[in-house]
Amino acid sequence: MSNIERLYSDRAGKMRKSVIRELLKVAQDPEIISFAGGLPNPKSFPINDLVGVIKSVLEDHGDDALQYGTTQGVKGLREIIAERAYKEGIDTTADNIIITSGSQQALDTVGKLFLNPGDTALVGLPTYLGGINAFKSYESNLTGIPLDKDGMQVDILDETIKKLLKNDITPKFIYVVPTFQNPAGVIMPESRRKNLIDIANEYDIVIIEDDPYGKLAYDVPHVKPIKAFDDEGRVIYISTFSKILSPGFRLAWTIASDKLTRKMIICKQALDLCTNTFTQFIVREFIRRGSLDLHILKICEMYKPKRDIMMEALENYFPEGYLCNKPKGGMFAWVTLPKGIDTEILFLDAIKSKVAYVHGKAFHVDDGGSSSMRLNFSYSSNDQIGEGIKRLGNVIEKKLETLTV
Ligand SMILES: Cc1ncc(COP(=O)(O)O)c(C=O)c1O
Repeated sequence: MSNIERLYSDRAGKMRKSVIRELLKVAQDPEIISFAGGLPNPKSFPINDLVGVIKSVLEDHGDDALQYGTTQGVKGLREIIAERAYKEGIDTTADNIIITSGSQQALDTVGKLFLNPGDTALVGLPTYLGGINAFKSYESNLTGIPLDKDGMQVDILDETIKKLLKNDITPKFIYVVPTFQNPAGVIMPESRRKNLIDIANEYDIVIIEDDPYGKLAYDVPHVKPIKAFDDEGRVIYISTFSKILSPGFRLAWTIASDKLTRKMIICKQALDLCTNTFTQFIVREFIRRGSLDLHILKICEMYKPKRDIMMEALENYFPEGYLCNKPKGGMFAWVTLPKGIDTEILFLDAIKSKVAYVHGKAFHVDDGGSSSMRLNFSYSSNDQIGEGIKRLGNVIEKKLETLTV
């Protein structure tokens, strides 16, 4: 019998499987109404438009589109991204942009760039699970900073950094999802974004700004990215085409200073040599035709009523005492149940009732979140949202009955 496990690196031995990937497997049962994954609605995919785009890419640029590309990414796409970023307040050029294989790769790349084993990084409580996994894979310690309705609490952030420094620990970076946060759905106002920059400047640390959902705004005007206030080149901005077009393309991008961009390119080189060239050409052409902005409008029109249906269903079917702020954009509602219900345990009952979600602990680097759950509202049909929340409400009612007996 082989015992190959003994040959694993310490790093690999410590790696844990992603709770979400496991849940997505369960949720593939067609009878289950899944609020678990952060999936776009498949009905939104612009398949007909893409057929035309792909044909023209192959006809006009086939030689390049099917070839290896540079590690940094297709220049034409980077130029378009730079123009779009400028409109949002980020003054950049194609040279400061790297196209990555999803923003997940960008998160891994920043982990590789900054984290030695035992290093500390600061993350939200709660925060995106994929970020936690990427940073933990570099054997780092993650310190959580609680969120309120305006995102990461900067006063607690400041106190925490002071305490760490007193103990001779310099946190390497602050990881933040400021706009329609995953999982909490909250948006950080401009004043707090500026506070965050001030703190990073004061302690000379880096901010990783992860922004997959900024364009999915339903009730609020655009808020400038943190990167727009970065005068010292310490923010690494990350965004993705996954939520505004297609996660299947595996295309995202980073915007960073010259110095950081050069280093990140080297870190990325060992991962994949280059990002998918074919999809980069496709997205470049899709944007060039003006189709992306129209598509974003379409998905916002599709998701806003889904958000409203979920909010209404929660009011109708969830027991008194649950908490949920109406998310103003993005894809998630973050629900906290009355105390005493552990959502990780409740999940087993939910699955029996053919409905799925992600339990709150998965998004916490401390032991918090046990009575919270993340509910995705973009993926399911409108009818499924109502029915799924009804099923979940019943599961919770039954659990509450057993707790009061
Ligand atoms: C905050 C956040 N960052 C990164 C990602 C990963 O996205 P991508 O598909 O670009 O790898 C997600 C996906 O859900 C996310 O919510």
